Amino acid sequence: MSTPSQPERTLVLIKPDGVARHLTGEILRRIEAKGYTIVALEQRSADTELLGEHYAEHQGKPFFDPLVDFMMSGPVVAAVVEGNRVIEGFRSLAGTTEPTAAAPGTIRGDLGRDWGTTVVQNLVHGSDSAESAAREIGLWFPAL
Ligand code: PPS
Repeated sequence: MSTPSQPERTLVLIKPDGVARHLTGEILRRIEAKGYTIVALEQRSADTELLGEHYAEHQGKPFFDPLVDFMMSGPVVAAVVEGNRVIEGFRSLAGTTEPTAAAPGTIRGDLGRDWGTTVVQNLVHGSDSAESAAREIGLWFPAL
């Protein structure tokens, strides 16, 4: 049996591939069907400054520049999602990084695939820890 937990918040991004493929509604539907609450939602175009801060821990990795370019290739939908253990829960809902390997039943496993591009188009981002969630929510929704 798990120990009681308090509601927490995570930052979810629907990446440009998800928005371009008109999967915003389907992805938000899955979040709500799981029982989480969307407390903030905005479609916007991210710039290099925001993405450089968002992905700061990945600066210098080979995928950093292609990832930032991909994230600027179209609008993204940013959401703050709330619920008990939502950070872990959303990452479970999203599935593993590579859509080809992600389990059926997950967002990436059901809706994603390899499109033959160098950049991994994996539909969504979710914060990976409480510290990341606080930092990322502050970047994308400074008024919250
Ligand atoms: S790492 O190095 O283990 O921390 O990488 P990982 O956690 O798997 O991924 C970190 C973020 O980078 C994205 N990523 C990529 N994007 C595009 N192309 C390639 N090759 C690639 N490799 C990793 C991955 O989706 C993570 O981004 P977010 O936005 O968190 O999903």
